[in-house]
Amino acid sequence: MGKLCALGVLISGSGTNLENITVEIEEGRLPASVAVVISDNPDAYGLVRARKHGLNAVFVDPASFPDRAAYDRELVRVLNENDVSLVVLAGYMRLVGPEFVEAFRDRIMNIHPALLPSFPGTSGVADALAYGVKVTGVTVHFVDEGLDTGPIILQEAVPVMSGDDEEVLHQRIHEVEYKLYPQAVRCFCEGRLRVEGRRVRILEEE
Ligand code: GAR
Repeated sequence: MGKLCALGVLISGSGTNLENITVEIEEGRLPASVAVVISDNPDAYGLVRARKHGLNAVFVDPASFPDRAAYDRELVRVLNENDVSLVVLAGYMRLVGPEFVEAFRDRIMNIHPALLPSFPGTSGVADALAYGVKVTGVTVHFVDEGLDTGPIILQEAVPVMSGDDEEVLHQRIHEVEYKLYPQAVRCFCEGRLRVEGRRVRILEEE
């Protein structure tokens, strides 16, 4: 397993995407390693999940830093200390600042529970439901300086059924996330992603 695929996973909450990626790695379907898990929330259940899998998992307290830039610098330090090549945002509910983006240009991925550019932000599922769309979905994208605006790697539609509440719809979305996120990470790890302006080209498998 090369250094190329040391992942640094950032979480704020439950961490089911983190756990799913970890299981994909453990079962040999994803040529990567989780070098470090960082949470901005001490109570994130994802920290518990990470430790159950024997991962190096740390809480870095935003309140101990004067501003976002200082917090981000600490995250970059921890990620570099762990030789991370790809930063994986998995339910990380904080904006990453310009210095962080620059430090890992085209090496930060995010998963979003809607079809961007629709419904960006931290309540993509609720916003789509409230708007009344019949189709929503999942987006995996590289992170740039904007809010959920970076080049899109993979997207898949998810139908909204009448009678859906946020929990039921989010569960359907999660099932697609568990397929798409490892797939996007695998493409990165195999060196098959090319960012060309706003577009991401995925090279064929050899
Ligand atoms: C996921 O559905 C992810 O798409 C979403 O948070 C959930 C985290 O679930 N992310 C965002 O809304 C980012 N703006 P998890 O903690 O169980 O992986």
